[in-house]
Amino acid sequence: MSNGFGIDIGGTGIKGALVDLERGDLAGERVRIPTPQPATVPAVLDTVKAVIDQAGWDGPVGCTFPGIVRHGVIGSAANVDKGWIGVDLAQQLSEKIGHPAVILNDADAAGIAEMQFGAGRDRNGVVIIVTLGTGIGTAVFVDGTLVPNTELGHIELDGFDAETRASSAAREREELSYKKWAVRLQRYFSHMEMLFSPDLFIVGGGVSKKSEKFLPRLDLKTEIVPAQLLNQSGIVGAAVEAARVTA
Ligand code: BGC
Repeated sequence: MSNGFGIDIGGTGIKGALVDLERGDLAGERVRIPTPQPATVPAVLDTVKAVIDQAGWDGPVGCTFPGIVRHGVIGSAANVDKGWIGVDLAQQLSEKIGHPAVILNDADAAGIAEMQFGAGRDRNGVVIIVTLGTGIGTAVFVDGTLVPNTELGHIELDGFDAETRASSAAREREELSYKKWAVRLQRYFSHMEMLFSPDLFIVGGGVSKKSEKFLPRLDLKTEIVPAQLLNQSGIVGAAVEAARVTA
């Protein structure tokens, strides 16, 4: 059995766990520490290290970030401290833990996990994973290959940045019923469908646990299914990517 370690940096919690890389499942208890506020670079780095230490891991890690990540460097920070932009997180985390650290976008990590172990298994063609959370994250796969850092949660819809209208946080903030929120999701997904003609949409994020409340209300040409790994996908995808890159 080969294990890796995955970390998911989110707006409210930093989570990490040992991952069984063959089963795509957690192989140990998930450690969660609230994201420090403000989520500055040194404070988050300390918390990531604390998560790794609490889990008792001493080795290379994969770690998600909720923004653009190019070659370990943070390129955007829509919902986190702007001080992250330009930071070489791969280098800083690796120095902190004394092992390689592979950093990737959170939705890309979730997508990698879903494609390998979840709703996207054995699915070819164009598959788009959309995570509905604080923001909207996307991961686009073409015959199983990821096109990294697509930021399709920020497409403009009716004059707005789509995630400000259709994310799960927007639903909570505006106290929308699932029925009303589904109207916005319909706008979002039908626009995405028009732009990409995908073969499959996979809907992730915490709210995908309640997909029966909104997915049946959507009328699309494209098949649309909930993610299967739920809130583990970021951790699993990060560990899988780290193992691939550091192999
Ligand atoms: C960010 C993406 C991220 C998504 C989900 C968006 O605001 O721009 O990079 O994947 O939120 O966290």
